[in-house]
Amino acid sequence: MLFEPITLRSLTIPNRAWMSPMCMYSAATDGPGAGVPHDWHFSHLAARAAGGAGLIFTEATAVSPEGRISPADLGLWNDHQERAFARVSHLLTLHGAVPGIQLAHAGRKASTDRPWHGGKPVAPAAGGWQPVGPSPVPFDDGYPTPHELTVEEIQQVVAAFAGAAGRALRAGFRVAEVHGAHGYLIGEFLSPHSNHRTDAYGGTFANRARLALEVAGAVRAVWPEELPVFFRVSATDWLTENPADERDGWTVDDTVRLAKELHARGIDLLDTSSGGNAPRARVVAAPGYQVPFAARVRAETGMPVAAVGKITDPAQAEDILTSGRADAVLLGRELLRDPYWPRRAARELGARPSWPDQYGYAV
Ligand SMILES: Cc1cc2nc3c(=O)[nH]c(=O)nc-3n(C[C@H](O)[C@H](O)[C@H](O)COP(=O)(O)O)c2cc1C
Repeated sequence: MLFEPITLRSLTIPNRAWMSPMCMYSAATDGPGAGVPHDWHFSHLAARAAGGAGLIFTEATAVSPEGRISPADLGLWNDHQERAFARVSHLLTLHGAVPGIQLAHAGRKASTDRPWHGGKPVAPAAGGWQPVGPSPVPFDDGYPTPHELTVEEIQQVVAAFAGAAGRALRAGFRVAEVHGAHGYLIGEFLSPHSNHRTDAYGGTFANRARLALEVAGAVRAVWPEELPVFFRVSATDWLTENPADERDGWTVDDTVRLAKELHARGIDLLDTSSGGNAPRARVVAAPGYQVPFAARVRAETGMPVAAVGKITDPAQAEDILTSGRADAVLLGRELLRDPYWPRRAARELGARPSWPDQYGYAV
């Protein structure tokens, strides 16, 4: 099944081994190159497409400057960026992959340093900015207090997602994914752990989910009928593992409820990740540890899902699909280790996906 095509709306993706979005923290941090993909991104992404992944996601791509996780993130808020992203989608298509873009806003976890420089918050004086969030609550010790977004500013965020989606479409992308996971802005609104608002965007489930649904709706409205929109969610904050925190975490029950709402609004697939919103949460990350979350959403909503997280073995990936727990798998670090993982997996599983004519001598 890993090498069976899948059709979502009118888009056929050639297989179900997909590349998960992964930040490279490698763009220029300011000036005209800020947020613009360049040779690093082109070669990195094209190599994974040549390796046979059926759908390749760009890294979390910020919809506005202050939505970048680090100053070196990619973004899609100006023409310069749009032109470079058109080259990305062209390269991915040339190598047989469907080009996907993950649209993101980092919220209170924005303005941090590259991980290999420590990943700590970057102060405005050092080239960073004050992050924004649902409530003036820092992510962790040592993080700045975010500016609490006003309702008008929330509407600007929704508009920024729609604007970036329009640019992504013009740049040739075929799948748009809204990043609602990992404790970034949309996930911060979803979880009562980070959202302490008392207005229409906080308190009840419906209010906390309002931003997620508005962004999903705005992107869906821009994206053509015949092309799919995905949503990445953190299925749990992992706080319910700790009974003392049970009251304030986002749970898998909440995810199932959100999935139904997203599906009803035309979101085509739930990309089911977890964690990232509560630094003290205890996560037990065994192989395939997030697959049960995807399986539950699929079973209880009928919505197509992708599983992600420590999926590294072809037989493991195949089993996730044939057992009906997911419709596709996303690989992250394994594709950093081995860009040709999908072609190797196809040989191991005895599948015969199409190879580029240029590589025909090797088949
Ligand atoms: C270097 C790196 C960058 C990442 N950047 C993103 C990102 O931009 N957006 C996102 O949703 N997840 C991001 N992730 C998470 C991955 O997409 C994936 O969900 C996670 O690594 C688990 O899958 P894996 O065990 O196959 O690596 C990143 C992970 C890594 C290792």
